[in-house]
Amino acid sequence: MNNAQDGRCILWRRGHVMSVVAATMAALVVAPSPVSGQENAAGALLKFKTALVNADPALGDWNPSTEPCTGNTGNWAGVLCYNGYVWGLQLDSMHLQGQIDVDALSVLQSLRTLSLTDNSFQGPMPDWRKVPTLTSLYLSDNQFSGQIPDDAFSGIDSLKKVYLSDNKFSGPIPSSLASPRMVELGLDNNQFSGGIPPFSAGNIRVFNVSGNKLKGPIPPSLRKLDPSSFKGNSALCEGPSCEPPPDMEPNIHPLALTKDVPSSRRGLSPATIAIIIISGLLALILILLLLLLCLRWSLDDDVETPRMVMMRSEMVSPYSERRSPMTLGASPQQQATKLSFVRDNRHKFDLQDLMRASAEVLGSGSFGASYKAVLVDGEALVVKRFKQMTNLTKDDFHDHMKRLGRLKHPNLLPLVAYLYRKEEKLLVFDFVTNNSLGKHLHDDGKRPEEWPKPLNWLCRLKAIKGTVRGLAYLHAELPALDAPHGHLKSSNVLLDNNYNALLMDYTLSPVVNPAQVSQALVAYKCPEYALSGRMSRKSDVWCLGILILETLTGKAVDKQLGQGRQYGAELARWVKGIVEEANAKGAVGVFDKDMEVSAEAETEMEKLLQIGIRCCQEELDKRLDLAEAVKRIEQLQE
Ligand SMILES: *[C@@H]1O[C@H](CO)[C@@H](O)[C@H](O)[C@H]1NC(C)=O
Repeated sequence: MNNAQDGRCILWRRGHVMSVVAATMAALVVAPSPVSGQENAAGALLKFKTALVNADPALGDWNPSTEPCTGNTGNWAGVLCYNGYVWGLQLDSMHLQGQIDVDALSVLQSLRTLSLTDNSFQGPMPDWRKVPTLTSLYLSDNQFSGQIPDDAFSGIDSLKKVYLSDNKFSGPIPSSLASPRMVELGLDNNQFSGGIPPFSAGNIRVFNVSGNKLKGPIPPSLRKLDPSSFKGNSALCEGPSCEPPPDMEPNIHPLALTKDVPSSRRGLSPATIAIIIISGLLALILILLLLLLCLRWSLDDDVETPRMVMMRSEMVSPYSERRSPMTLGASPQQQATKLSFVRDNRHKFDLQDLMRASAEVLGSGSFGASYKAVLVDGEALVVKRFKQMTNLTKDDFHDHMKRLGRLKHPNLLPLVAYLYRKEEKLLVFDFVTNNSLGKHLHDDGKRPEEWPKPLNWLCRLKAIKGTVRGLAYLHAELPALDAPHGHLKSSNVLLDNNYNALLMDYTLSPVVNPAQVSQALVAYKCPEYALSGRMSRKSDVWCLGILILETLTGKAVDKQLGQGRQYGAELARWVKGIVEEANAKGAVGVFDKDMEVSAEAETEMEKLLQIGIRCCQEELDKRLDLAEAVKRIEQLQE
């Protein structure tokens, strides 16, 4: 029905789908506050340079008389800039040696890519966890050596490309490189040994481990890759007779990191325990039999005994070794291990499928961590973990989840399933491949080039229209609730590939603990709650108004305001600031400069601004009610 508007609200998506996808769900969470433009890039780079050997003449123009960056132009050799920030260093083939000062690099909070290819660096792997902003790391063709710690790359959440080719690294491939986010991984021509850790092939485009000393099976997920990626490792194998090398560490699944989700680290499954007991018993019987035999023959049993002990341990060990990290836990009677589905017509999977899925940590929001999980069949889901929902009984919680499962609207992100545990709940949603409205609006100045451009006016209007439709649906379906959404903010409005808005984190107030609800949900930051401790049907409208103002002005709410008690008051001041600015400069003066504006659009934008301001009236009877706001917004022309 709104194809015409779809056609015009498509702008910038082209070659960078992958990077957007990876950045996507980070929007589920409150992003860290932006770096101020005043980071001391020059100082950091000069410090980095002093630890290098042979830096001159190649880095001769690194000196304090100029800034490293002017806009998108790098003034210093090898420095890549975006909007005045250093986002990359490309110092290839400069005969560099010496120390890599990661502490100095950690100051460059926009540093995304670092290339030191074809230099003469030696020694162990530097600790890149101090530079957690990295997305690409190129260290090929150096003399690095030694074992890389297993967790060397953990916590570098956006890392997608790593090239360590043609060095002298040895020991096992660190499992922290086997992240589902990895897109390119070059480990060829080193001395890596052991097995290939379990990779999910999800995003892998380049993968090369040729010319190492690896052994054991090629993970099934990687078998479709070009065989030259594996050549030169004589002990790598495929097929049923191919056994994993015994020294391989099992990969621990992110979903298993909590105390509630059982993992093999904490206990064996009942089946495993049974196998161990049975094999133990068998071994014991065997030993008794042998003892009997020995006694029969009654000759030197001093020699026999140690061998028998060895036999026994050999019989037990293959079973105890074979615990999977996904094994479900020791006490199934205490911990729920069954997902409850809230929709009948949906393809079902169980918790084990979820634990077996490749999982990617998306971030942690005001509630808890969230993950993207891709099932073996390719289905992508978002798993959110909530800890502030411990008061309800299982039945009450179940009833509410069922109620959410019945909600169905093109502008609501559907809840798929949940897991009830005493201390925490997991909610499983469908995954949407684009970004939140908030992320689109506030890609502050440090955006690398492949990131999306800001939304144009038509996309913004489309997002707002979708939002009010979803909101109106919730209000119609849930007449008994004060604030049927309760948590409307720009980071909770996802945009799909066609910029349709999908609301998430809706209708949680009935299950969040009363003591925590006013902290956790943004609707509780409304003026009426601050004044009287009471919510109203218009509390969601207040949030809508803020969303509209944020969308029109491009001014971020979350990042400027503190959390906690003051938040409501600060929010009100934020609104007042915009109103005053609009009065002083005229509406056009407050619109986001990044939004392309035509003359016809401007009248509609002014109307939307007025609607936003009316939604943000502190006094309830001056504030628009939702029906009126919907009507006015639907009338806006595209
Ligand atoms: C892997 O690396 C080796 C040696 O560097 C090269 O010969 C081979 O073509 C590479 N294979 C792929 C698929 O990149």
